[in-house]
Amino acid sequence: MKGLINFLIVSFSIYSIVKADGSDDPDLNRTINELIESRGFKYETHYIVTKDLYILGVYRLINPFVKQEDRSKLKPIVLQHGFMGCAVDFLINAPGGNAIPCQVSDAYTLSNLNGTITNNLGFLLSNLCYDVWLSNSRGNLYSRNHTIYDPDKDKQFWEFSFDEMIDYDTPAIIGHVLNTTGFASLGWIGHSQGTLMMFGLLADQPHYSLMVKPFIAMAPVCFVDNIMLSLRIASRVPFVLWGLRRSVGELNENTLILKLTEQVACGRWEPKVCEKLIYPLMGYNLEELNSSRVDVYRAHGYAGSSVWNLVHFGQNIVAGDFKRFDYGTSENIKRYNGPSPPKFPLTQINSTQVALIYSKSDQLGDNKDVARLIDTIKVPLLRDYFVPLPSWNHLDFIYGKDIYTYVHQEILKILQSTY
Ligand SMILES: *[C@@H]1O[C@H](CO)[C@@H](O)[C@H](O)[C@H]1NC(C)=O
Ligand SMILES: *[C@@H]1O[C@H](CO)[C@@H](O)[C@H](O)[C@H]1NC(C)=O
Ligand SMILES: *[C@@H]1O[C@H](CO)[C@@H](O)[C@H](O)[C@H]1NC(C)=O
Ligand SMILES: *[C@@H]1O[C@H](CO)[C@@H](O)[C@H](O)[C@H]1NC(C)=O
Ligand SMILES: *[C@@H]1O[C@H](CO)[C@@H](O)[C@H](O)[C@H]1NC(C)=O
Ligand SMILES: *[C@@H]1O[C@H](CO)[C@@H](O)[C@H](O)[C@H]1NC(C)=O
Repeated sequence: MKGLINFLIVSFSIYSIVKADGSDDPDLNRTINELIESRGFKYETHYIVTKDLYILGVYRLINPFVKQEDRSKLKPIVLQHGFMGCAVDFLINAPGGNAIPCQVSDAYTLSNLNGTITNNLGFLLSNLCYDVWLSNSRGNLYSRNHTIYDPDKDKQFWEFSFDEMIDYDTPAIIGHVLNTTGFASLGWIGHSQGTLMMFGLLADQPHYSLMVKPFIAMAPVCFVDNIMLSLRIASRVPFVLWGLRRSVGELNENTLILKLTEQVACGRWEPKVCEKLIYPLMGYNLEELNSSRVDVYRAHGYAGSSVWNLVHFGQNIVAGDFKRFDYGTSENIKRYNGPSPPKFPLTQINSTQVALIYSKSDQLGDNKDVARLIDTIKVPLLRDYFVPLPSWNHLDFIYGKDIYTYVHQEILKILQSTY
């Protein structure tokens, strides 16, 4: 039982587990719609139906200063969040980032940005005249929706992991964005699991390389066998993954196991103590964390997923490889024609439009795992960028105070070089 509790404490706290309270930051209680409008942008909500009938809530930012007739000229870019995250991850880093005019004729010109906040990637790209699409993976707050299943009642809804995000969500989003915009290709910027979704797709269906240009992978995760020690240990506690696989369901802040975690980890302590204890475990870097904004991050950082998705990461930690979900021998034989799940064939990736952005202290995307990914991909990378601040950690790619200097500027350079 102690092992199980430890496992829960560590795993279910990927983002903060303490509910925000008492802060008067206006971003705290804003919905994504309000957040977008508060910065002077407009948006469209697109309900994208996947082949297996999940409905994804995807947001398209509209820069109101771009004339209606010019909007179809803007190049589409999809921003894809990581595990337990959501579209808000790309909008919440800092206050501000308000809409400013951009001219399609001199789009992407950095001098347009003087004086604006450049920490929120979604707003930044829209202010540079890109057509920004903010996706939400199945099962999170904005994509708890299905044509047949009711996520509140039907367990089947939660029988998914990142395999289905690779097989269904990613192609559905790409297809919808290309269809809607009439463009032949789009840019894809992923964080963490949002990179894994694209690596998996490019491995399984290499022809997607023709449609995804460029693919910018921040804090890439595919191989996870060198992930932080606590998660490695937790994944190997006997029967934990086995037991969790049997408890099909939702992973969100109201999940019983999560509440238990909260009680155990933080219930009796001051929030500050809890913060000091939990954050360093989760890929936070206190040096880069804006402590006045922690409540805002907490309020938005926990958008949910499935228990199976967590189990899948655990399975791959143990397997030491980037494999499909392990259902147990008999079900594996039915699905995969073999007793164990197949690997994603990363060696088949033939896209030369893949840019990696990673860092020394990323505890979830360890350098050894990224090096192995680079070795495995047979074609040259478009860009291999190592964040020049040694303490840069996994969640700094969302929340880091100096994200413009260390990450966004590089993203803009990559985009300019490929578009
Ligand atoms: C946000 O909501 C919480 C809980 O309902 C409340 O205590 C807090 O005052 C609200 N903050 C703002 C800025 O509206
Ligand atoms: C931006 O810079 C230009 C010249 O570099 C200046 O004319 C303009 O007033 C500035 N705009 C803002 C909003 O600061
Ligand atoms: C589910 O998708 C439908 C569109 O098919 C949409 O009208 C509805 O608002 C969505 N519900 C939620 C909870 O997102
Ligand atoms: C894109 O449009 C074509 C033609 O209208 C249609 O057949 C196809 O199903 C659409 N694909 C997606 C993913 O919406
Ligand atoms: C990658 O392989 C696919 C499938 O064989 C092919 O359609 C595509 O043209 C290739 N892409 C590149 C960039 O070579
Ligand atoms: C830190 O957060 C506070 C509260 O939201 C905000 O006023 C301040 O501008 C932020 N600082 C930076 C560097 O983003």
